[in-house]
Parts: sequence; C-alpha cells; structure tokens
Amino acid sequence: MRKIVMMLSLFVAAMTHAAEQPKRVSINTPHMSVVVEASADMQPRYVYLGDRINQQDVDNAQPVSRTPIYPTLGSELVHESALAITHADGSMATDLRYVDTQTVSEGSTTVTKICMQDKVYPVTVNVCYRAYKDVDVIETWTEIVNNEKRPITLNRYASAMLPIRKGNVWMTSFHGAWGNEAGLVERQLQRGFVTVKNKNGIRNSQTEHAEVMFSLDGRAAENSGRVIGAALCYTGNYRLQVETYNTGYHYLLAGIDEECSPYHLARGESFVTPVLAFTYSTEGKGGVSRTFHRWGREYKLCHGNQLRDVLLNSWEGVGMNVKEEEMNQMMAAVHDLGGELFVMDDGWFGSKYPRNNDSAGLGDWVTDTKKLPGGIDALLADAKNHNIKFGIWIEPEMANIKSELYERHPDWIINAKNRPLVGGRGGNQLVLDLANPKVQDFVFGVVDDLLSRYPQIAYIKWDANMSIVSHGSQYLSAADQSHLYIAYHQGLKKVLERIRAKYPDVVMQSCASGGGRVNWGILPYFDEWWVSDNTDALQRIFMQWGTSHFFPAIGMASHVSKSPNQQTRRLLPLKYRFDVAMSGRLGMEMVPSELTESEQEFARKAIADYKTIRPIVQLGDLYRLVSPYDNSHVASLMYVSDTKDRAVFYWWKLAAFVDDHLPRITMAGLNPDRVYTIHELNRIDRNPLSCEGRKYTGAYLMNHGIDLPSDHDVRNIQTGGWSSRVLYLVAE
Ligand code: GLA
Repeated sequence: MRKIVMMLSLFVAAMTHAAEQPKRVSINTPHMSVVVEASADMQPRYVYLGDRINQQDVDNAQPVSRTPIYPTLGSELVHESALAITHADGSMATDLRYVDTQTVSEGSTTVTKICMQDKVYPVTVNVCYRAYKDVDVIETWTEIVNNEKRPITLNRYASAMLPIRKGNVWMTSFHGAWGNEAGLVERQLQRGFVTVKNKNGIRNSQTEHAEVMFSLDGRAAENSGRVIGAALCYTGNYRLQVETYNTGYHYLLAGIDEECSPYHLARGESFVTPVLAFTYSTEGKGGVSRTFHRWGREYKLCHGNQLRDVLLNSWEGVGMNVKEEEMNQMMAAVHDLGGELFVMDDGWFGSKYPRNNDSAGLGDWVTDTKKLPGGIDALLADAKNHNIKFGIWIEPEMANIKSELYERHPDWIINAKNRPLVGGRGGNQLVLDLANPKVQDFVFGVVDDLLSRYPQIAYIKWDANMSIVSHGSQYLSAADQSHLYIAYHQGLKKVLERIRAKYPDVVMQSCASGGGRVNWGILPYFDEWWVSDNTDALQRIFMQWGTSHFFPAIGMASHVSKSPNQQTRRLLPLKYRFDVAMSGRLGMEMVPSELTESEQEFARKAIADYKTIRPIVQLGDLYRLVSPYDNSHVASLMYVSDTKDRAVFYWWKLAAFVDDHLPRITMAGLNPDRVYTIHELNRIDRNPLSCEGRKYTGAYLMNHGIDLPSDHDVRNIQTGGWSSRVLYLVAE
C-alpha cells in the first residue's frame, strides 16, 4: 500500500512538474522557426516567430504575448477572437485547452497539429501548420469538429492569428479597382484596427488583395530588413484584420469573412478553414516575394516550372467580332511574328441569343455558326496549318437572362427569394449557383465538352465578370442560406478538381474582369492570370509591380496592345509596350497586321529575344530596384537566374521633364565576384549605350550601379519621351 502511495505521489510530482514546464513545439523551415508553448491546463500560445533557431534557443526563448494562438470568444480575452461559437445550448462562450501535438511527414513538408478541446463542450479545434523542408513557407489553418449532440453555429472561424512584435511596424497591402488592380498601400501600424476585406463573392482581388506584408524595421525596404509576408489562400470572401491594443504586439487575424456566413456545423461534422501561408525574411520585401514565387512555382501554380508560350489574344483586336477568316489571319500573323499560341476570346458562341455584345448568350456554349461557319473544327485545322496552338475563352459560372440556359434553368441562378433579379455586366448577367451539384456538373460539362470534343484545344481563358449580389440560393435550405458564399466556393473547387484530374495538361488562365482572381486559393488550378483589362504599358508598370509582391512573373499575363490604348487612350511607342510586356509572360492583344512593316520587324525580333530570356524571366529570382511609387520618374527591376549566370534588367521612364536628373540604378541579386557582359535588347537607338558589350563585375553593378540616358538616340521614331531599356547580362 505504501509503495502505491509513494508511486502515486511520484506520479503527481511528475505531473505537477510537467504542468510547470509547458511543452515547446517548434515548427521549422530551412531559415524560419515558429515556436508554440502548450501544456494541459493552458491555452497554447506563441513563443517565437523569426529566423530559424536551435533547440537551446527554443527552450529558453522568452515567451511572447499571453494571447493564445487561437483566441476564442468567451475565454478571458476581450479582444478580437479567432473563434466564436454559439453552442447547441445557446452558450456563446468557448474556452480551449491544449490536448496534444501530432506531427507527420507529408512529402516535402511536415505537418504539426496543435490539438485543443473546449473545457466544457465536446468541440475540438486543431490549429495546423505545414512547414516546407525546401522553401521558407509555413501554411497554417484550423480544423473545428463539433461533437456536441446538436448543431453549433460558427460565427467566427479564422484561419489563423499571428502576433507581430510592436516597434516601427509598417504594413504593405494592395488595393485597386477595375483597370487599376493591385495598387500598393503602405502604412505605419498605429493603435486600433486595420482591415483588409473582400465580400465580392467572385472577384476577390479586384479591389482588396488577400496578401499583406509587415516590415518590422520601419518602412519596408526591397532587399534588407525583417519582413513577414502572409497570403490567405482562398477563392472567396475574406477578412484580414490587424488589431493593436495595450500589449507589446499587433495581432493579425485572417480568414473567411464571416459577415455574410455564419456556419452551422451538425453533430460529427468538421469545418476546415482556408490556409494562411506565411514567411519571414531578413531580405526585405524582395525576400518575401522571392520565397512566395518559389513556393508558388514549385507547389501551387499549375505547371509552375514549365515555360509559357508567347500568345496572341483576340479581345482588344476584334472584340466579340470573332469571324473565321479574321481568326485565321490572326493565327497566321502571330505565327509569322514568332508566337506559339492563339486565343479566341469572347464572342464565339450562342445560337438563339448570339453573343454579339455583353448582354446575351452567356451559358449557351455552342458555336455561333454565323460567325464561324466551319465551327471549332475549322479553327483547329487553321491552327494546325499555321503550326500554332489554339485556346478559347469561356465564362462558365455565369448566365445571361437572355440565354437558353436561363430559360431552361431559372432555378440555377443566385438571387435572393422574393427579390427582383439584379443583372450585372450588360445589364443582365447572373451568377450560377455552384452550391447546387447540378450546376457543378454543368460547369464541369462546359469544359469537358470542349476538351473531349476538341482535344487539340491547348488553353482556356476562364473568365468571371460578376459579383455575387442579391445573395440567395435556390438550392440551399432556408436555414442554410448563410452557407451560400462558402458552398459556392466548395462547389467551384470540386469543379476545378474534376477538370484538373481529367485534363492535367490544359493551360488555364484565371481572369475576372482583369485581375479579379489573383489569389493563391484559385491559382493551384490555373497556370496564369490576367493582371488587368487595362493594357496601357505605363499603368501596367504599377499594377504588375503590386502583383509581383506575391505572384511570380511566369503567371503574369502581360500583353502588348495597340496605341492609343483602348482604356487610357495613351500613345506609347511599340518599344515601350514590348519593354514592359517582356517583364512578364509576354503576349499580344491586337490585330498584328495593323502594325507597320518596320513595327512587325521590331515585334519579330523582340519575340525571338524574349524566347532567349524567357527562362530567366519566368523561372528566375525577381529583384525590384526602383519603385514606380517612389516618384523618381523611373521604375526598374531585374530577374536573375538561379545560378546567377544570367540576368535581365528592365528600366522604364515614367514621366518626361526637361532638366530631369534620373537616379543611377544599383542592381541586386548578382554574384559580386562574377563578370557580366551587358547587351541591350529591343534597341532602337542609332548609337549603342556606353555600356553596350562591356564587362562589369557584379559588385560594380550592385554597389555603383548603372546610368541610362533619359532619351533615345533616334530619328524618325516617335518616342514622346517614353524611354525604356531592357538589358541582358551574361556572366563569363
Ligand atoms: C473580361 C476580360 C477581358 C475579356 C472580356 C470579354 O472583361 O477581362 O479580357 O475577355 O471579358 O468579354
């Protein structure tokens, strides 16, 4: 008996000791560590987020904020909660305690789950972390399981909370509008709230973007300083919120926007939030971008490491007037310029309601034989003839009121009960209700019909030009109307998964009235995205600059269009337009035969040169050098190959003033000890640049930099002061 009592007291002592010594769980990538502290009687909390540290430092790190990793409504905290539940008995209080930690290896990642349970109610919550072994990204998300006897309601269900140590912290976010996407917004964090929120339902990057950076050392620099970057990977509505109160931290909460979406969880059901992917860099914003680009190419974007074709898209050239012979001529012309793919945009479909303008035909995916008498077969034969690939535009999530689809299935569209229809683009565009499995089959069928009947189709431009308004599902029950926004995206994901399972090779572009769908939630199903319907090269410098913060050049569709520009009416020389478009995935958006002979010659040479630099632009590391937002009248960036033996440097003048002294540009990312020869591409000047053909060490180019003349040395070419340069650097 005494023995048992002794053993018991030893056990109790051990337990007490365990309770005094919370367990520390470290989650590591090659250069980053996150440490969470947890013990049975406590709410797990963060101890560390930063550079990778060793076990001794993990053990001794000073605990950070007392705020739990997943704050709940109803525990001792009065600040913003990640989780708010109405329990089956009506109680709104949730108080989570640590249960255990599970760790498994999955491919090139390690997944760590911090498992928690409410003290009173049988609700379990796992905060999960996927750490990559070869890239500095951790993905975090949360699983919520209801084991109560009756349904509970999730009023808040963030993907994650991250603490950011106070100091001189600056936040970078992105805000835009149609035609002006991904504008850079930088602000110093003060007390109170900053919210980045989107509830468009469909185009979740047209205005706000779900990506943010936090510079810990004052206003963010491009290539130095500590910066945390985070991206919510979700196709739908979201809310990212920074709260600053009287602790030493700012708190980032990120997840689905709950405003329209209280979510009922039946007994035994679980809810898995979208992923928040984050990184920590000591190389400024540029370091965050390069990590996200690498991770995106390697693990997220479709065919992320395969070079992209140079293409011609018909939209700005002919609009909806897609006639067979014109398509044939455009294919011939782009092939002659060195293009590899032709994409027929909107206007090719509709029977009873032909798609001659944007107010009819959406939903009726049959070829308009008035415009295309030989159908798609004839176009594919022409493409084959011209030795070029063929792509096609669709907008499968939508219908026009003027469509046979709507006449057949008025119950398939989203519209609130007892409310008049709200038409979008063209006055009568509607969104199909992807919560409905029949609609999912239909949308899958649009792609499946095309690709199974015409396996030669190599590329699909998937557009989405409407928001979810008057939200109401004719499929979901009255009780579950608040599930619509989430069910829509679960449905969309199912469709995209089916498409990718059956057609893994087809190239797909994500477009939503331009750059309305650029997010790491949708991009795993796509190869690229349309940055903006605004192809004006000057404004594109700004939009592509913003987009490049989280998304790599390989997916950044960047097209040379005609001048004056369709949106801005700005006149820009062809060279400037190519010099900008060649910094992304190059394409064209015009009728090539409208170019003069000498312009065609220039385009032919530029496309050939682009093919030489394509691996560096599309697979290399981006270094942003001078921001267009800095008001120095120039912008500049460069790409450097993995082995640093090749680089491409871009420089664009943004304004033309007399007696303007432009900054010398210091390069970045080169090997300081290697010697690079400089060669200008797309040259129009009579005399070469003074650096042409000369050799410089990487150190010279990065420390001293390069001067470029403010104008071109040209006669008979209209540049209007819009000078620009593309330099190709080759190491010995
Ligand atoms: C949207 C797209 C454009 C074009 C048109 C066609 O606006 O962003 O690129 O495809 O639709 O209607």
